[in-house]
Amino acid sequence: MANNEDIFKKIISHAKEYGFVFPSSDIYDGLSAVYDYGEYGVELKNNIKNYWWRAMVQNHENIVGLDSAIFMHPTIWKASGHVDAFSDPMIDNRDSKKRYRADVLVEDYVAKIEEKINKEVEKAKKRFGDAFNEAQFRATNPRVLEHQAKMDEANTRLNNCLNENDLAGVKKLIEDLEIVCPVSGSRNWTEVRQFNLMFSTQLGSLSEETNTIYLRPETAQGIFVNFLNVQKSGRMKVPFGIAQIGKAFRNEIVARQFIFRMREFEQMEMQFFVRPGTELEWFEKWKAERLQWHLSLGTAPENFRFHPHDKLAHYANAACDIEFKFPIGFKELEGIHSRTDFDLTAHQKYSGRKIQYFDPELNESYIPYVIETSIGLDRTFLAILSNAYTEEVLEDGSERVVLKIPPVLAPIKATVLPLIKKDGLPEKAREIMDVLKVDFMCQYDEKDAIGRRYRRQDAIGTPYCITVDHQTLQDNTVTIRERDSMLQERVPIDSLTEIIRKKISI
Ligand code: GAP
Repeated sequence: MANNEDIFKKIISHAKEYGFVFPSSDIYDGLSAVYDYGEYGVELKNNIKNYWWRAMVQNHENIVGLDSAIFMHPTIWKASGHVDAFSDPMIDNRDSKKRYRADVLVEDYVAKIEEKINKEVEKAKKRFGDAFNEAQFRATNPRVLEHQAKMDEANTRLNNCLNENDLAGVKKLIEDLEIVCPVSGSRNWTEVRQFNLMFSTQLGSLSEETNTIYLRPETAQGIFVNFLNVQKSGRMKVPFGIAQIGKAFRNEIVARQFIFRMREFEQMEMQFFVRPGTELEWFEKWKAERLQWHLSLGTAPENFRFHPHDKLAHYANAACDIEFKFPIGFKELEGIHSRTDFDLTAHQKYSGRKIQYFDPELNESYIPYVIETSIGLDRTFLAILSNAYTEEVLEDGSERVVLKIPPVLAPIKATVLPLIKKDGLPEKAREIMDVLKVDFMCQYDEKDAIGRRYRRQDAIGTPYCITVDHQTLQDNTVTIRERDSMLQERVPIDSLTEIIRKKISI
């Protein structure tokens, strides 16, 4: 059986072959950690955005949308803390000349030990069979306990160093753990330095007074600086939220994981403004609601887990990730943060404008506290794609690759196929296509044998194939083939719109 790394490689090559994701600037050998979305990728991406927008904005009367500009006043990034603190600790290996995130080197070391523990558990499971008590084994097995102690020590030392900005301590930790460069195999490391992740550029022509501005590293600040505008124009009452989808840019040091970590990516963020003192209650509510959103797409619950942050960002009083089991392991998909009144207070200070909300029920003014839900669109895309990618051996021994994408997100909802390219079947199929394409993204395909055409649709995740045959000309019925079960049913042409609509409804 293929291991996870092989599966990940297969998903990446499938994504390219079938027009989901291409490396950016491909004919120039690509641009590191930047990707383009192809003809099916853009559909899937738009459908994910739409699914999120409908859940967050359409289904919440107290959440409204926003589309703020990528370029913003540079002082915003001073106020938000990004100019001074949005950096990662980096380290170079002198032999391979490769650059790494120092904290990720330690995290990878910890992940390897965790893998060892999991192997011990698997072995014991096989040995003891039904009588196996996993919790007890983890709590008492000497080898597991030894590994666990090593992990805990590395994690604690790393968190202490990061909290105290002790970069020499991070270097010492890497040395003590005897971590080697994965490329050169050597331990010839430089000092650890902070590396700011924001891209900067100049506003205005060079002859004028130049001004350094930043490509936004998160969409959230566009929401904060529009808090007063939206609250007033929308007559919003606390608690309320502002949601936004848009590009963000980070000069990531480690950028080798396909669309998991990109330098240009998209976020879907929502800031929820609440009364001070109620934020932790809302934090728990949003954690539950966001997990439910992920589960509503039909992905098995064991693929998700909460990961509370040990090290809180400078603006947070509680934070938690929703992690997804990617082929590269459990990794952050979404962050839920209780950001206190940090951002609004900072913007009030730096802008000199009063940013307060008058609460008519309490008859007092205050700066609202904020719960943020922040999810990467590209990571969600990768989660959906990797969960959908399935290799199957069929009853007749043939193989198929099928993307079991939830129908509501599938790039193409239905494909209309004349069984053969003559006898008036293409004309009839075109008639059906012309009706369906008004409501759904559809395709028409008459090239190659019907079996090959089904395989092509399986590979891009089309939930329905509608086949027009000779009987269609007599009684206006077609066969409709369901992607996952491959079962075919004969239905009247008139019922197609309703069948597809039902299947793709939220
Ligand atoms: N406003 C809060 C914020 O930006 P974050 O945890 O840095 O928080 C939120 O980012 C989400 O954005 C992450 O959970 C992840 O899904 C996505 N994300 C962050 N950096 C990314 C990158 N380099 N490439 C792709 N997605 C990224």
